Amino acid sequence: MSETVLMNPFPEALVDVRVVGKKISWYPETVSTNTLALESGVDGAVFVAEYQTAGRGRHGRRWHSAPGLGLYFSVALWGPLRGVTFGAALAARDALSSGCAVAIRWPNDLCCGQRKIGGILVEQREGLLALGIGINVNQHMDDFPSCLRHRAGSLRMATGVVWDRRETFCQLLMHLDAVVQRLRTGEFDAIHAEWTDACNMIGKRVRRGATTGKVTAVDMEGALLLQTATGMKRVGCGDVTISDIE
Ligand code: BTN
Repeated sequence: MSETVLMNPFPEALVDVRVVGKKISWYPETVSTNTLALESGVDGAVFVAEYQTAGRGRHGRRWHSAPGLGLYFSVALWGPLRGVTFGAALAARDALSSGCAVAIRWPNDLCCGQRKIGGILVEQREGLLALGIGINVNQHMDDFPSCLRHRAGSLRMATGVVWDRRETFCQLLMHLDAVVQRLRTGEFDAIHAEWTDACNMIGKRVRRGATTGKVTAVDMEGALLLQTATGMKRVGCGDVTISDIE
């Protein structure tokens, strides 16, 4: 029986970047690219895989990594880097914008219409951050497990065309490099304001469990500040599902 040998479709480095993508390591398969990043210790090193056997999502969820169809990668960054999740969402949105209108849905999902096409997970170990990004690029509906089919999407599903993963990956890294530079030169406030604007939650009525309120602000950690009948309530992104937005 012949064995299929996968070829690396990605560059080994980007030129004209300051940090992100100066070194890119490709894996046909790994447990999670975030784990590789957390073990690396090299600022700006990027780890990209065709397939993750245990890709991690927020809140302990799994990230489904259909082999060869998406982009699953992590950037190792020495912290602290306040606002990196906000900046990463803006960078991803902008990197994809020439081919697809991508929105940032609170707390930090990348969406085309109502369907989630990407997510961001930042993990930390002893001052080193793993900025992990998963983008569904060329999946069809059937490539997702049935439990995700009502809400997952891909760039291909949204646009009807096959996307060039290498070009998309390079665009993502270049935008991430620029936003990391902005954060490291003290632009947290501006990035937080851009992200708040992009989430478009201010003024919306939100219900969570028994609590209903109007969003008056999004704080520096990304939590919603709700004006409710019984006073102000803070809804953090760590433990919440927005059940309805009126
Ligand atoms: C989310 O739940 O929305 C975050 C998903 C993040 C998935 C990416 S894929 C690359 C990196 N490695 C992981 O194990 N997770 C992130």
